[in-house]
Amino acid sequence: MTPRPVIIDCDPGQDDAVALLMALASPESLKVLGITCVAGNVPLDLTQRNARRVCVLAGRPDMPVFAGCPRPLIRPLGTAEAVHGQTGLDGSGLPEEPAMPLQDRHAVDFIIDTCLSAEDGEITLCPLGPLTNIAVAIVKAPQIVPKIREIVFMGGAALGPGNRTPMAEFNIVTDPHAAQVVFESGAPLVMFGLDVTHTVITTPARLDAIRAIGTPVAAAVTGMLTFYDRHDIERYGDPGAPLHDPCVIAWLLKPELFRGKDVHLAVETNSPLTMGRTVADWWGVTGNAPNATVMDRADSDGFYALVVDRLSRL
Ligand code: RIB
Ligand code: CA
Repeated sequence: MTPRPVIIDCDPGQDDAVALLMALASPESLKVLGITCVAGNVPLDLTQRNARRVCVLAGRPDMPVFAGCPRPLIRPLGTAEAVHGQTGLDGSGLPEEPAMPLQDRHAVDFIIDTCLSAEDGEITLCPLGPLTNIAVAIVKAPQIVPKIREIVFMGGAALGPGNRTPMAEFNIVTDPHAAQVVFESGAPLVMFGLDVTHTVITTPARLDAIRAIGTPVAAAVTGMLTFYDRHDIERYGDPGAPLHDPCVIAWLLKPELFRGKDVHLAVETNSPLTMGRTVADWWGVTGNAPNATVMDRADSDGFYALVVDRLSRL
């Protein structure tokens, strides 16, 4: 099988880091053309550095990493150090400075250049943070849309509550206007929102299985997730935190682990109370044509078995 060409757009973030490691551990399935970084969990100077720290950990200092937009389109940047720590990768134990360069080209230009040199429907975009880079690429070069096979993203909450506001999930509400551009672009969407990510919880037994891999990668991941889990354990009372971003990569590797529904997807950008709410027409009451597959179920044991399997390869 020919590996699927992907661009991963991210804001590392411990869960982004696990997603990156899983992708880089799967060259038979995914050809990671580049990693683009956006401001989100922490400011851009840290997300781009963290992406490079993870590439070095994965033994891929050759991976091109690009810095993108340092703030949302309209809203001021709101970060999440309370979850991810001051560095955005607290608990990793990794050297602060990565032994690999940042690319000079802007992330948006890398996304555009890569798509324009591809065949129609060839490139899969995998945003794991706010959608700012993706939206700017589409606005700057709308002719990239036919080149996009799917935009497979972590973000949103369609059926349940938000995690940043009562109604909205962090990635989408951080830049709801970017989400509107992406949702209205015409590119096929696959959404991994809180409805499904909150069904994959890093329990102590699952964390032990990762720790038991016994490698430097496993030690870094265990340290990251131990730090990252504490916020959600306290907030939700679950035995661990949801492993949000790796759901995107897991679906690309084993889609049978998930279930979703084709629906029309929109985003609220006006109301202060519901700003950033992803509105999925679950029962087709609007008559609007579906533009997204919104995931709502996961085989959580199968998901964590895949996480361990791929981390064990590095
Ligand atoms: O709401 C969870 C999402 O916000 C994840 O992508 C996490 O990394 C943060 O970016
Ligand atoms: Ca993220």
